[in-house]
Amino acid sequence: MGIKSLGEINKMKQAGQLLASCHREISKRIVPGITTWEIDQFVENYLEQHGATPEQKGYLGYPYATCASINHEVCHGFPRKEALQNGDIVTIDMVVNVDGWLADSAWSYPVGEVSEEADRLLQLTKESLYKGIEQAQIGNRIGDISHAIQSFAESNGLSVVRPFIGHGIGKRMHEPPEVPHYGTPHTGPLITEGMVFTIEPMLNLGKHHVRVLGDGWTAVTVDESLSAQYEHTIAITKDGPIILTEQ
Ligand code: MF3
Ligand code: CO
Repeated sequence: MGIKSLGEINKMKQAGQLLASCHREISKRIVPGITTWEIDQFVENYLEQHGATPEQKGYLGYPYATCASINHEVCHGFPRKEALQNGDIVTIDMVVNVDGWLADSAWSYPVGEVSEEADRLLQLTKESLYKGIEQAQIGNRIGDISHAIQSFAESNGLSVVRPFIGHGIGKRMHEPPEVPHYGTPHTGPLITEGMVFTIEPMLNLGKHHVRVLGDGWTAVTVDESLSAQYEHTIAITKDGPIILTEQ
């Protein structure tokens, strides 16, 4: 399962910290009127200035540094020259490469003043990520993470997106293990020291079903309900999970 040494985890943490600081900068810039195109340009410049590269650009032909998914868009939306509106929510996802080592983190942002239900979706989706991280302990199984997220989401009346899941990460973006955000406790791969993987729940206000648009990338909710996502890259240690992308 691509076990990493402490030295390797440290290198991934450097990528993770740069990614976290990039998200902090983004959060200051998300206001009504800005476009996701401008945010993408900012990220490209910011990473270049800090000696890093955007791993998503060119990955399987993906054209941009970031994925930018607005409202009922679930993930893998294209940045575009369309102003964000007061009340929108937008998820910015990116993978940062520092000296060949990667970190991956997505964050949903409110644009201006959002509705109470949008705000609730944001808060609960973030909380579901941390419920999952709590279960990322040596001796647990991946299904314990999956179940913690699903039961928390569904008990709050939210649904869990199925086709897009967390994943191991290292020098490559996608490595074993697979980390679904729905499932059964005590099942799946055993969690062991030195594993590094993402947890990245996408929760919907409506039904869980999603479809991919004609651009081949943008996933949206079939019922057009709002969707939010929070993602961290974490490393498993004897002292518990370390969040490499903590902001
Ligand atoms: N960052 C995404 C993930 O969480 C991957 C985005 S797909 C890409 O796995 F092609 F845009 F990179
Ligand atoms: Co990601």
